[in-house]
Amino acid sequence: MAKFHLVYPVLMFISVMASHSSFVEGNFARSMYSLWGAEHSAFLGNDDVELVLDQYSGSGIQSKETFLFGSVEMLIKLVPGNSAGTVTAYYLYSTGDKHDEIDFEFLGNISGQPYVIHTNIFTRGEGGREQQFYPWFDPTADYHNYTIHWNPSEVVWYVDGIPIRVYKNYESEGIPYPKQQPMRVYTSIWNADSWATRNGLDKIDWTKAPFVAKLRRFRARACSYHGPLSISQCGAPSLGNWWNSPVYSKLSNAKQEEINWVRDNYMIYDYCKNITRYNGYLPGECLRAQY
Ligand SMILES: *[C@@H]1O[C@H](CO)[C@@H](O)[C@H](O)[C@H]1NC(C)=O
Ligand SMILES: *[C@@H]1O[C@H](CO)[C@@H](O)[C@H](O)[C@H]1NC(C)=O
Ligand SMILES: *[C@@H]1O[C@H](CO)[C@@H](O)[C@H](O)[C@H]1NC(C)=O
Repeated sequence: MAKFHLVYPVLMFISVMASHSSFVEGNFARSMYSLWGAEHSAFLGNDDVELVLDQYSGSGIQSKETFLFGSVEMLIKLVPGNSAGTVTAYYLYSTGDKHDEIDFEFLGNISGQPYVIHTNIFTRGEGGREQQFYPWFDPTADYHNYTIHWNPSEVVWYVDGIPIRVYKNYESEGIPYPKQQPMRVYTSIWNADSWATRNGLDKIDWTKAPFVAKLRRFRARACSYHGPLSISQCGAPSLGNWWNSPVYSKLSNAKQEEINWVRDNYMIYDYCKNITRYNGYLPGECLRAQY
C-alpha cells in the first residue's frame, strides 16, 4: 500500500493562488501516505486506514503537507483485548532539533484494564509537559473523535468534542508557544513495552499479534504552509476566523465545565502538579490560567 503520490490539481490551483499559505481540507487518500512499515498499513478508500503491529514491524503514516495552525481531527478505534506494551500515537510534529510537537498517545493495557490517553506538547525541542487521562469509555469498542485545535492563541485537545487539555499562548510573558514551525500530522503504532504499560512491567504478548489500530475520517482543516506565514491569506471557510483572534480562544462556560469534569474524574498525571520534579519551581505556564 506504499504508493500515494496522488497529485490533486485543485489543491495545486489553490496553492498557486495564495502562494504562501492556503487553506486545505485533507483526508487520508488526498493528504497522507505511508512513512514506514508500508506493508503493515492499509489505506481503505478515502477515509479508512489500518495500522498493524506484529513481531516484524509497526507502521506509521504522515501528511504530505505541513500545517501552521488549524484543526486536525481523526476517529480512532484502538487495539482491543490485550494491548499492553503497544502505543498508538497521533501527533503534530515539526522537524529540526528545536522542534515543536503536539501529542496524543494511547498506551495499551492488558485485557480489562484501562488505556491511558497521554498528551504532551514540545516547544523548541522542550517537552516534558505530560498530562494523562483515563478514557471515560472503552476506546476499543468503537471509533472516537480525537481532535487538536491549534491557533495562534491556544492549543486544545478534544475527545469526542470534550476539551481535555488547553495550552495557552503566554509568549509575551516568556513562555514558549508553537507558532513559527509548520508541522506534519503523523499516526503510528509501535512497540513501547519498555515503558508504556505500568512503566514497562506489562510486555507485549506476541501470541495476540497482529495488533490493529483503526483510523477513520481524518480531516485537516488547516493552513497548509508554503512559505512565510501569512495567516490572513490562508482563509478558513469552514472554521470562520476562530484562529485569528484571541476572542475566539476562550472555552465557553459549558466547555469549561466539561474540562473540569475530565480533570476532576479522569486525569491521572499532570506535570504541573509534580512539585518534586521541578524542585518546587513549576514551569511558567503552570502558574497561569490555561482556560
Ligand atoms: C470531532 O470533534 C471536533 C471538536 O469538537 C468537532 O469540531 C468535529 O465536528 C467532530 N467530528 C465528528 C466527526 O464528530
Ligand atoms: C493499566 O492498568 C493498570 C491497572 O489498572 C493501571 O494502573 C495503568 O494505569 C493502566 N495503564 C497503563 C498504560 O499502564
Ligand atoms: C514526577 O516526575 C518524575 C520525573 O518525571 C517521575 O519520576 C515521578 O514519578 C513523578 N511523580 C509522580 C507523583 O507522578
